[in-house]
Amino acid sequence: MTDAHIVMEDVRKSYSMGSTTVTALDGLSLEINQGDFAVILGPSGSGKTTFLNVLGGLESPTSGAVRVGGEDIASFNQQKVTQYRRHQVGFIFQFFNLLPTLTAEENVAMSNEMVNGKGFDPSDMLARVGLGDRTDHYPGQLSGGQQQRVAIARALAKKPALVLADEPTGSLDVETGIDVLKVMRQLNRETGQTFVVVTHNSAIAQIADRVIRVGSGKVHNVIVNDMPFEPEEVDW
Ligand SMILES: Nc1ncnc2c1ncn2[C@@H]1O[C@H](COP(=O)(O)OP(=O)(O)OP(=O)(O)O)[C@@H](O)[C@H]1O
Ligand SMILES: [Mg+2]
Repeated sequence: MTDAHIVMEDVRKSYSMGSTTVTALDGLSLEINQGDFAVILGPSGSGKTTFLNVLGGLESPTSGAVRVGGEDIASFNQQKVTQYRRHQVGFIFQFFNLLPTLTAEENVAMSNEMVNGKGFDPSDMLARVGLGDRTDHYPGQLSGGQQQRVAIARALAKKPALVLADEPTGSLDVETGIDVLKVMRQLNRETGQTFVVVTHNSAIAQIADRVIRVGSGKVHNVIVNDMPFEPEEVDW
């Protein structure tokens, strides 16, 4: 019996571009345990976003198995993938994808409505990411870092079993980044949600339970960290 939440086996993803083929994932295999705060590190173009998209059911792999909670999501039909995305996955995109015609609170509330109100209260969630006084603002009235925090609140609000984050602190200043990582780490410990966080920033790796280095669409090495630092202890 293993407590792996995620098992990916020999996952490949390639894109045909006219006469050439681009290989984004080239036989990627890994395991991530239930409740892990896992960090994926790798250079630009190494397949990190593609990996998250495949794991989150936004794209299907060309081949390989993507088991989440014992089920191979790569074999799901469209309806099952939609259910999986809606109920199990909270996605924080590299470019935050907020709905411009909804306020911050409405953007977050939409995510909670998707799970029939079983998630966190939208205004509490915004307060946790430091935006308690911005709930009625539209994305266009918020700075890039504030929009990113709304996107984080939105992903977390539905209390998904799996949180996937693509460079969540990329557009934040150091202080705000630490605050956001603290919120993510705290929720991870409170709820036992599994977090998979993609980043270029190797400092973030110090707070992770598991650090997975990727390059050219493959896993290079994995470090399991029994004594991770707290976000405020790291020298950013
Ligand atoms: N839809 C697509 N069509 C064709 N090629 C793609 C597509 N998506 C990604 N790729 C290619 O796959 C490779 C991996 O891209 P990916 O976006 O996963 O990298 P990344 O590690 O997230 O990079 P970054 O750190 O810059 O965000 C790149 O060479 C990219 O050009
Ligand atoms: Mg990317």
